[in-house]
Amino acid sequence: MRHLLDTRTLDRDTALQILDVAEDMSDTQSRQVKKLPTLLGKTVVNLFFEDSTRTRISFEAAAKRLSADVINFAAKGSSVSKGESLKDTAQTLQAMGADAVVVRHSASGAPRTLATSGWISAGVVNAGDGTHEHPTQALLDAFTIRKRRYGADSRGRDLSGLRVVIVGDVLHSRVARSGVWLLTTLGAEVTLVTPPTLVPQNVSAWPVRVLYDLDAALSEAPDAVMMLRIQVERMHAAYFPTEREYSRLWGLDALRAATLPASSIVMHPGPMNRGLEISSEAADSARSTVLEQVTNGVSVRMAVLYLLLAGERNDDREEVR
Ligand code: CP
Repeated sequence: MRHLLDTRTLDRDTALQILDVAEDMSDTQSRQVKKLPTLLGKTVVNLFFEDSTRTRISFEAAAKRLSADVINFAAKGSSVSKGESLKDTAQTLQAMGADAVVVRHSASGAPRTLATSGWISAGVVNAGDGTHEHPTQALLDAFTIRKRRYGADSRGRDLSGLRVVIVGDVLHSRVARSGVWLLTTLGAEVTLVTPPTLVPQNVSAWPVRVLYDLDAALSEAPDAVMMLRIQVERMHAAYFPTEREYSRLWGLDALRAATLPASSIVMHPGPMNRGLEISSEAADSARSTVLEQVTNGVSVRMAVLYLLLAGERNDDREEVR
């Protein structure tokens, strides 16, 4: 694997390979093996132009557990505030020996530009770009759904026959986009539930069904309900109902969660707006996988870095975009 830029073009076999390697990484960590020597001598740069808690820290933990050196770059406090470009920033970090660059950027397509422009030779991982994609979030979500369903028998399995409902601010959500592509590639049926004002224009080209009624979607007993964060920072006031109306119609509270079968899980990528898209009772309930998703994120990112950096030489690798 040369780069990981999206899930839209990630084929089923490669996706399953990443999930299965993540299973191996997860087993290793659960046996209290804190570090593997696999990426000794490699350098991973976390290049974050947007804020992050989970993604940045779990990529750092993943790289360190594989014995790579890690350089953390945050645009805030850097020479980006003096006008330094993405190209110059990336080339500066490459000059410090980056083998892989994990990039989060507000511009959709920034990771692809880094990967294909020839500015740097390092492998590029998309850690979230604008409203476009967040492929490692989708992989950790798929890993979590598979693990909850199949437990120790997860390896090699896809998500055929499982039904996933994704609820909320689909318009602005790179998590939803990456989730739709990956979950459907793995055989799951995906339903989007969203206010009519937060439906992307091109949704008819997506392999999903769109509903506006959350209670109707929950009454179909889905295997997983994924609540999306309301992206206040990207929201136009005209698109958004009042907070009270939003949480009444599209929020998941304890009463709604109680209508689900016992085996259904409740997911959220974080950070959560408690009391808006999800109540504290639902977020902290036994069926919530919020913290499991965070734990699984480290294993999945270990798998991605391993497949990017530990195999054959970069030049010989097939690109995954
Ligand atoms: N889920 C997610 O991407 O969280 P962060 O913004 O904290 O990385």
